[in-house]
Amino acid sequence: MVEREWVLLNPGPANTSPRVRQALVTPDLCHREPEFFEVMRECRARLVRAAGGGPDLDAVLFTGSGTAAVEATLASAVPDGRAVLIVNNGVYGDRMLRIAKAHRIPAEVLAYDVTTPVAPADVAAALRAHSEISHVAVVHHETTTGLLNPVEAVADVAATAGRRVIVDAMSSLFGEPLDVTREGLDFVTASANKCLQGIPGVSFVLARRAALEALRGRAPRSVYLDLFNHWATQEQDNTPFTPAVQVLHAMREALVELEEEGVAARIARYGENCRVLRHGMQALGFEILVPAGARSQILTTFRLRSGVGYDALHDAMKRRGYIIYAGQGEIRTYAFRVSNMGTLTPKDMEAVVAAFAECVEELTRPS
Ligand SMILES: Cc1ncc(COP(=O)(O)O)c(C=O)c1O
Repeated sequence: MVEREWVLLNPGPANTSPRVRQALVTPDLCHREPEFFEVMRECRARLVRAAGGGPDLDAVLFTGSGTAAVEATLASAVPDGRAVLIVNNGVYGDRMLRIAKAHRIPAEVLAYDVTTPVAPADVAAALRAHSEISHVAVVHHETTTGLLNPVEAVADVAATAGRRVIVDAMSSLFGEPLDVTREGLDFVTASANKCLQGIPGVSFVLARRAALEALRGRAPRSVYLDLFNHWATQEQDNTPFTPAVQVLHAMREALVELEEEGVAARIARYGENCRVLRHGMQALGFEILVPAGARSQILTTFRLRSGVGYDALHDAMKRRGYIIYAGQGEIRTYAFRVSNMGTLTPKDMEAVVAAFAECVEELTRPS
C-alpha cells in the first residue's frame, strides 16, 4: 500500500498510516458477537487512557461524523427547564447554537468575531446573570480559523459558579494540550479522523461517569442521539444500533499507534509541523489571520496574497499532490486554510512550503 497519494492539508479527514487503512480489511463480522464487542471495549478504554483519564472518565462511541457526538451531548446534557450558554466565534460555535435551537433548548450566546477567543470573565458574568444556565458549551479549537478558546479557564469559571462545561474538541484532542479531567468539564467530544489519525465515520464523547449517570431516567430528545442509551448499552458490551464495524477496527489501530507515538510526542510533532509551515509561508509573504497568542498549532488561516486567487492556488497545489482548504463563508474571499495534522512530519511541511513557493511563482509569472 502506498504511503499516501495526496497530502491532506485540510483539517480532517487527515492522512493516515497504511497500517490504519489496512485495519479496515477485516473478516465479515456480526456486530453482536464477542469479537466485535472486544474491539469496542478496547477503543473506549484506550480513548480514556490516551486522554489521561482514570476510572471517573468514560468514552461513548457514536457511528456518525463529529457532529453526531456534539448533537448527542447537547441534546442529552441540558435538562428540561434549563439553558445552555454557547460561545460563538466561528462556524462550529454557530453549529452548536443551531443544534440547541433544533432541540428547543433555550440558549444564551456569547458572540465574538472569528479571530477573538472567549474571555472567561464574560462567561462568569453571563453565568451570574442567568441562573437558568446549567451548561456552557465551547469549541476548543475553532477550525473556522485556527483559533484556540481557553477552555480550561472557562471550566474553572463554570466550576466556581456551580455549572458544567461541554467542549467540542473535534479538531484538537490529541493534537493540542487539553486537560479533559479538569474540574467543571463534563463532556468532551471529538472524532476518529482528525488528530487521532483514524478513518471518518466514528465520533465519541469523553465524559465524566457521574455526568453520564445523572442522565439516567431523563426523557431523550432524540432516539439515535441519546447519549445515555449509547453509554448504558456499551457498558453492557452491546450497541443500540449497527456501528461502523470496519471503521472501529481502524480506530483501534489508530489508538495503538497513538499510544506508541505518545500523546505528548504527537503534540510536539504537530507543533514542529506548524512552526515549519508558518515560518516558510511568512517568508513567502503570506500573513496569518489569527493574532499570535490565540493560534492553535494544528491549523493556520493565511490571507491570500494579491494576484493569487484561492481557486487557482488550490488547483496549482493539487497538481503537485497537495490539498489545501478554502476559508469558510465570507473568509473564502480573502484567506485559506492549511492544516498540519495527520501523519505529516516537519520534512513534509518543508515540501509543502516549497510547493507553495512554486505555485506563487507560477501564478504571478507575467504572461
Ligand atoms: C470544531 C469542529 N466541530 C465539529 C466538527 C464536526 O464536523 P463533522 O460532522 O463534519 O465531522 C468539526 C469538523 O471539522 C470541527 O472542526
